[in-house]
Amino acid sequence: MNSIEKFKHVRLKSIEICRPLEIEDYLPQPSIFVSPPKWHLGHTTWFFETFIAKNFSDYKEFNPSFAFSFNSYYESIGDRVARDQRGNQSRPTVNEVLKYRMHLDHFISSLSGSELLPFEELLELGLNHEEQHQELLLYDIQFILWNQAIQPTYSTEFKKATQLLAKPKWLKIEEGLYDIGDEGLTAFVFDNEKGKHKVYLNAFEIRSELISNGEYLDFMEDGGYENARLWTAEGWDWIRSNKITAPLYWLKNSEDRWKEFGLNGFQSLDLNSAVQNISWYEAAAFCEWAGYRLPTEFEWESSSSQFNWGKLWEYTISAYLPYPRFKTDEGAVGEYNGKFMINQMVSRGSSYATPIGHSRKTYRNFFDPSMRWQFSGIRPCKR
Ligand SMILES: [Fe+2]
Repeated sequence: MNSIEKFKHVRLKSIEICRPLEIEDYLPQPSIFVSPPKWHLGHTTWFFETFIAKNFSDYKEFNPSFAFSFNSYYESIGDRVARDQRGNQSRPTVNEVLKYRMHLDHFISSLSGSELLPFEELLELGLNHEEQHQELLLYDIQFILWNQAIQPTYSTEFKKATQLLAKPKWLKIEEGLYDIGDEGLTAFVFDNEKGKHKVYLNAFEIRSELISNGEYLDFMEDGGYENARLWTAEGWDWIRSNKITAPLYWLKNSEDRWKEFGLNGFQSLDLNSAVQNISWYEAAAFCEWAGYRLPTEFEWESSSSQFNWGKLWEYTISAYLPYPRFKTDEGAVGEYNGKFMINQMVSRGSSYATPIGHSRKTYRNFFDPSMRWQFSGIRPCKR
């Protein structure tokens, strides 16, 4: 696929993700960490417009006020709608945003190979950025529908591939020096993966399979959420103040059995699927209870060729910090990753909502430890 074909393909995917929605579903923002689907569609378009299209003198800006509506966090670009106010903006309308997308797509698609050449890297970044938002769209749509009184189903066709097919084994990894980070061989990586460097790892054992719903239920039934000794101080405060006693999307049915809400609606809890929609705090408390621990991100990367991943993002015990030779990119795109390297934990792998081909073993995702609307799970190490 050449870059324009890839551009068209990725842009269409965002529209397809929104297709099962009703027009009213494009607007709600039930929590600050959720963005309305309409905002995702506008923001990803703004990214291409700001970093590529506006460099061409013959590009006619669709609507200059959209920069205020759809800038996310780029201080060097200008003011924007406050993050917690995105759901209160009924204008521009969904239809106007769809027209904005078509306007931008038409312009980018009409550029010749030589016109695009200086922007190849930014185009690739824009496509990877849109793919990240496609996954966020699915998280946000699920949370928006969950927050409706009638909790509707997004799509009965949606496949949630989290079944654990094999019996878990412990994989032994030898001590030694391991290479971490991008070697420069992959076509595209984010800045936070760059700078191959060595780390020394002691021998460790990591599990071939994720923790199942059944194992997590054992933790709950053994009083896991009531035992302060299992929790970090912050995690304990968080479950107490938010009255958390189960994973985000678990509910009891009329017969007192657990069911789980997903993009495919409510299903009875599958004990043999990987537990998901738990926070980092809950993952760490579970490991404490089970006598396990979370891997470091370096242990994860060094052993990742020995197990199958891609069901859920996998928590690590590593804080999200710059690699030794991390460099912030020039210009406003330098705000992409580096400024978030504080108070967040690294997750590795990818989930069933990650666009195909988007992730790789060096990929570093990151979340605040209290976040649990994302599709994350637990792959423990032995203590
Ligand atoms: Fe973004």
